[in-house]
Amino acid sequence: MSIKVGIIGCGSIAKLRHAPEYKANPYVDKIVFFDRNLERAEELAHMFGGSVANSVEELLTDPTIEIISDCSSNEFHHIFSAKALQSGKHVLCEKPISLTIEHATEVVEAQKKSGKKLMVDHNQRFTRAHQKAKEIIENEELGKVLTFRTTFGHAGPEHWGVNKTNSTWFFKKNRSALGVAGDLGIHKIDLVHYLLGDEIEQVSAFQGALDKVDEHGDPIKVSDNIVCSLKTKRGRIGTASFSWTYYGEEDNSTIIYCERGILKIYHRDEYQIEVITKEGERVNYQLESIQTNDNQTNSGVIDAFIECVRLDKNPLVSGDDALSSLKVILGILEAAETSRVVTI
Ligand SMILES: NC(=O)c1ccc[n+]([C@@H]2O[C@H](COP(=O)([O-])OP(=O)(O)OC[C@H]3O[C@@H](n4cnc5c(N)ncnc54)[C@H](O)[C@@H]3O)[C@@H](O)[C@H]2O)c1
Repeated sequence: MSIKVGIIGCGSIAKLRHAPEYKANPYVDKIVFFDRNLERAEELAHMFGGSVANSVEELLTDPTIEIISDCSSNEFHHIFSAKALQSGKHVLCEKPISLTIEHATEVVEAQKKSGKKLMVDHNQRFTRAHQKAKEIIENEELGKVLTFRTTFGHAGPEHWGVNKTNSTWFFKKNRSALGVAGDLGIHKIDLVHYLLGDEIEQVSAFQGALDKVDEHGDPIKVSDNIVCSLKTKRGRIGTASFSWTYYGEEDNSTIIYCERGILKIYHRDEYQIEVITKEGERVNYQLESIQTNDNQTNSGVIDAFIECVRLDKNPLVSGDDALSSLKVILGILEAAETSRVVTI
């Protein structure tokens, strides 16, 4: 089986994850790149082999292309991903699925009508440590989950995106819209839903643009930090913090406190999972490190998506999963803006 893939948006995520992982996948034989900045598409076609399309329509009307990776910036996901599904393509959409519930629902509906596969790149579900942690939680090796805390922070997207300046779209209200919450927070909300097999139902939060400035030196109009309290449907309570100002070192850690002990994930470099029992016994797991902005390893997402398409399997992250994480993020932002507890 040989699969032809189209990639829309040829910035950092396409260059560092989608293109190399498609290229490494034995079932993919051709990649066609499109970016409204043609040079970026040409650069990736040159780096990874493949060709360049001149428009999104050219990709979507090509009957030989089966899969579209939507790696455009956030405000276009609902347009490109929905159109691609309506054109009969399987779609791997970058997170967040969209910026509003209405737009996200359009993508989810397009998937349901088309019967094609839709996966949203909530890649935290795919890491070996998170998969092992889910197994430990599901088997109730430490009893039931009581509370949790999670964080995701790095030095900011002006160091990551293809535009490495403070004029990056990640800082623009009309383009990223959700700020650090939609960039990093949504990964951890999805992870909490996945690990706990539960959904966040109530939230409260504080936010701020504490340090980042735009190209004019003015504070950015989206938040660079959010700290929140979360309560799930099954009554678990936890905290989460998302930051673009963790200077010096990235933090992607989660701690789950259970009836009979603690599960620490990505807390130390040496061991990706540490289990500490109520009796003080320690079990350390050496699994693979998580990808950081400076250390890209295979995320497993592309291979998993290709497998879904080849073997007609359901993706590990559905459109509905992505929609429920988006609802929580919008609730967190509302809670921070209104200083109220918000029920999702
Ligand atoms: N899953 C993850 O861990 C992860 C990590 C980083 C970024 N992302 C997501 O990936 C997406 C892209 O982020 P990035 O870091 O690559 O950003 P980026 O700024 O590096 O690249 C975005 C690219 O998309 C192109 N683009 C934007 N709008 C377009 C349009 N209408 N038509 C054609 N091309 C268009 C831009 O020209 C640019 O080359 C975002 O939605 C982001 O949230 C996901």
